[in-house]
Amino acid sequence: MPDDRTRERRESGLVTVSNRLPVTLRRGPRGPERVRSSGGLVAAFEPILEDRGGLWIGWPGLELRPGESVSDGEDHYQLAPVGIPRHDVKPYYQGFSNRTLWPLFHTLPGQAVFETSEWDAYQRVNERFAEATAAAIQPDDHVIVNDYHLMLTPGYLRKLAPEVAVGFFLHIPFPPYDVFRVLPWARPLLRGLLAADLVGFHVSGYVRNFLDCTHRLLGLKTDVRRGIVQIDGRTVRVIALPLGIDFAHYESLAKGAPDAGFGNQERVVLGVDRLDYTKGIPERIHAFARLLETHPEHREKVTLLQLAVPSRSQVTEYQELKREIDELVGQVNGRFGTASWSPIRYLYRSVSPDKLAAMYRDADVAFVTPLRDGMNLVAKEYVACQVNDPGVLLLSHTAGAAETMTEALLVNPYNIDDTAAKLHQALAMPKGERRARMRALRKREASHNVHRWAKRLVQRLARAARENR
Ligand code: ADP
Ligand code: F6P
Repeated sequence: MPDDRTRERRESGLVTVSNRLPVTLRRGPRGPERVRSSGGLVAAFEPILEDRGGLWIGWPGLELRPGESVSDGEDHYQLAPVGIPRHDVKPYYQGFSNRTLWPLFHTLPGQAVFETSEWDAYQRVNERFAEATAAAIQPDDHVIVNDYHLMLTPGYLRKLAPEVAVGFFLHIPFPPYDVFRVLPWARPLLRGLLAADLVGFHVSGYVRNFLDCTHRLLGLKTDVRRGIVQIDGRTVRVIALPLGIDFAHYESLAKGAPDAGFGNQERVVLGVDRLDYTKGIPERIHAFARLLETHPEHREKVTLLQLAVPSRSQVTEYQELKREIDELVGQVNGRFGTASWSPIRYLYRSVSPDKLAAMYRDADVAFVTPLRDGMNLVAKEYVACQVNDPGVLLLSHTAGAAETMTEALLVNPYNIDDTAAKLHQALAMPKGERRARMRALRKREASHNVHRWAKRLVQRLARAARENR
């Protein structure tokens, strides 16, 4: 019999399925060690499940041995680990997920690798996730499958549990037709997704791209205005639902956090990212160097503080990026640094939530310049932490967040001169303008927060599933 707490956790009816669980296990000398998983998906779902309860199905990062558990017993929700056979991890995760779909969906087709054996592993692992989900759910659950690692899972799950409400949410961009069609397995991938009752994206541009593909690649009846695709006698709803953050949590962290320790004379431009080539970190460093070239008045007064949390470090492209950034930081510091000032401070690690909140709060500018990004939660976290004299958000127009955060200073991250000019504008912005922009940004993010997002997603899924039964 389940105990009260387990029952409470499951009664929510919310089941989220993602490649990662909120914790990743690493094998240490005294058994598995728990590390908090990085990235926007975990940042989004943790507060949702803490609030509503539910079940989170995902890969713990290693093969559990008998008697080992993924949970420390403290969570307000249940965790269900999915084992991935050791021989499939590399082709499924490092390979098809992160060397094929990740670059392609970020519109970098030249970097994508197409290997049939990796596609085969991707299918096997997606089927395994569907089996684990089918075994764990109850008939009236609402299942939300997440992200590019699991685009075939709705298809397999539909066969195993035909009546269950299944939604799929993509946390990265969906590329334009001309880019997506490059994928040799574009059609089966679309069919896998369309087994869901509801397919969600962060912004309307990704919805348009997806509907363009369902129409042109599968020839399906597609109503772009209503966001509907007809397939096998079912109606799939396709929606844009921009993800938010736990605004109140970040705001209260920022109110309580100790000083970030920047010093009174120092003005700080802050970058916070997973170390990923889509985040535009080298371009950002070039733009900062250009600022110091063209506006020498900022030398010894402004510092770029770049935090980069290690990510996917087994993948070659990520190892190369790390080397490139290490070298660039050295070059810029060597060129502009003085005995008492380094232009760039670079931390290659994760920092604790209260330290991060303090840095967000005390930074003069958030330098959020991904080359392409599904949404970008860092921009939103910065805004939530602006509880004192407000700073300025500098944001790529190629991030999903730019579709709604229109009061940010928007930049083209590929245009180094313009980014440097906008950075100067941000540093010189009068207080009145900073306040007005930040007030509007904060107001929107406070109301369009992650709890509202989850509520709407579940409501829309319930409605879509009802219409199909
Ligand atoms: P992505 O999902 O591609 O990683 P997002 O910007 O949506 O990008 O989410 C990144 C998340 O990771 C944010 O919640 C951010 O606070 C967190 N993060 C990024 N870098 C660090 C770091 N160095 N230390 C702690 N948290 C970090
Ligand atoms: O939001 C983007 C995202 O790719 C998540 O899906 C993923 O969990 C996260 O970034 C971090 O990447 P990884 O799971 O490969 O460590």
